[in-house]
Amino acid sequence: MRASHPTARAPHRAPVSERPHHEPVPDAGAECHGAAGLQVAAADRDVAAAVERVLGQVLAENLTRARALDPLFARDVADRVARFTLDGGKRLRSRIVWWTMRACGGGDDVAGPAALRTGAALELIQTCALAHDDVMDGARTRRGRPALHASVATQYRQAAPDGRAERLGEAAATLAGDLALAWADDLIADTVVPEHCSRRVRELWRDMRTEMVAGQYLDVQGQATRSRSVPQAVRAATLKSALYSVERPMALGAALAGADAATTAALCAAGRGAGLAFQLRDDVEDLFADPDTTGKPPGGDLRNGKPTYLFTVARAWAEEAGDLSALAVLDGAHGRADLPESALGPVRQVLVASGALQAVEDRIGRLARCAVGQLRCARLDPAGGAELERLLLRAAGVPTAQPAAPVAEAEGAGR
Ligand code: IPE
Ligand code: IPE
Ligand code: MG
Ligand code: MG
Ligand code: MG
Repeated sequence: MRASHPTARAPHRAPVSERPHHEPVPDAGAECHGAAGLQVAAADRDVAAAVERVLGQVLAENLTRARALDPLFARDVADRVARFTLDGGKRLRSRIVWWTMRACGGGDDVAGPAALRTGAALELIQTCALAHDDVMDGARTRRGRPALHASVATQYRQAAPDGRAERLGEAAATLAGDLALAWADDLIADTVVPEHCSRRVRELWRDMRTEMVAGQYLDVQGQATRSRSVPQAVRAATLKSALYSVERPMALGAALAGADAATTAALCAAGRGAGLAFQLRDDVEDLFADPDTTGKPPGGDLRNGKPTYLFTVARAWAEEAGDLSALAVLDGAHGRADLPESALGPVRQVLVASGALQAVEDRIGRLARCAVGQLRCARLDPAGGAELERLLLRAAGVPTAQPAAPVAEAEGAGR
């Protein structure tokens, strides 16, 4: 599809004087006739494929260097980073960068390729995040396949017995995550961005990486200390996921398009709320989704004793109500690494009967409606804005035809 059309609600962008060199034109995809223009048109039709073309090229170059450096490292670590990044994933973050940029009227021959490269770099950040996350969460399956650390452990089970293969798997996944992060940073450093936003892109990239690490720490610290705090659950979800998954990719897309301050603020507010909804959905899916769809076995958060929003709300309500049997079910399952599949049912029942699941669904719905309201208040290109709206709703796992909530009802997504 073509994202941009001259419209009544023209995309809101910074004055030309603030964007001296690369003026994105509203119908840039149509007006660029070179390779970059074709790339923009192709990305409008299929963002994931366009990002994967960039990834394929960048990863091939990195793999050539890795193989020349050391074949064993290349086979065990670098190849795995490349395969994991190329094979699978919903490409949420890269789609968000692209459609935010388009919704803000961007897509000239500098911003278009830059958005694709930024999206590709975000997919590498995702590889880093997931390789490390699966070690920290002790998760053996990812995207329906063995997690990176588990696949290395299997490869070395014969050659490194007595638990050494498991240790090697965790070390290799740690290094693979580091490598993916380094490659993501290299990709950003080698990307030409419109001059008006180069500083902003650097700042966003810097903040995003640290936010995600901070959130992951809050998550595992809350787990280790058996936190039951609802606000800490929201804060961890925001930092570990909402920001790098949604808000920051939106901010990057807006920056590349040269969006003005008001539009950027509206987009970031929408992204923060939708990002929190995305993580709350992920938490719900741990117990209530089809594992064939999520690619992750059910109950991982429960067995790990994760103080998710869903769990902390359910526990707080059971405590308030003095519901001892609900508390016994919740506390008896939470943090039990050997919890059998059959014990998940009673926990699900408590979450449903207590109304906690519905409360989380209600909050996800409010956050999503609010994000839609914020998007609709921003002056966006209609076609790009509609794509963005659909993406955010899909991320939150709510039906795509949502009425917008008035922005005044916006609830804090909690930083
Ligand atoms: C998984 O993110 C990690 C979270 C932040 C919940 P995604 O659900 O976007 O994972 P992929 O990239 O599609 O596998
Ligand atoms: C992961 O959160 C967040 C990051 C990878 C930064 P989760 O641990 O909830 O993600 P899943 O459920 O394993 O995908
Ligand atoms: Mg995890
Ligand atoms: Mg985790
Ligand atoms: Mg999760």
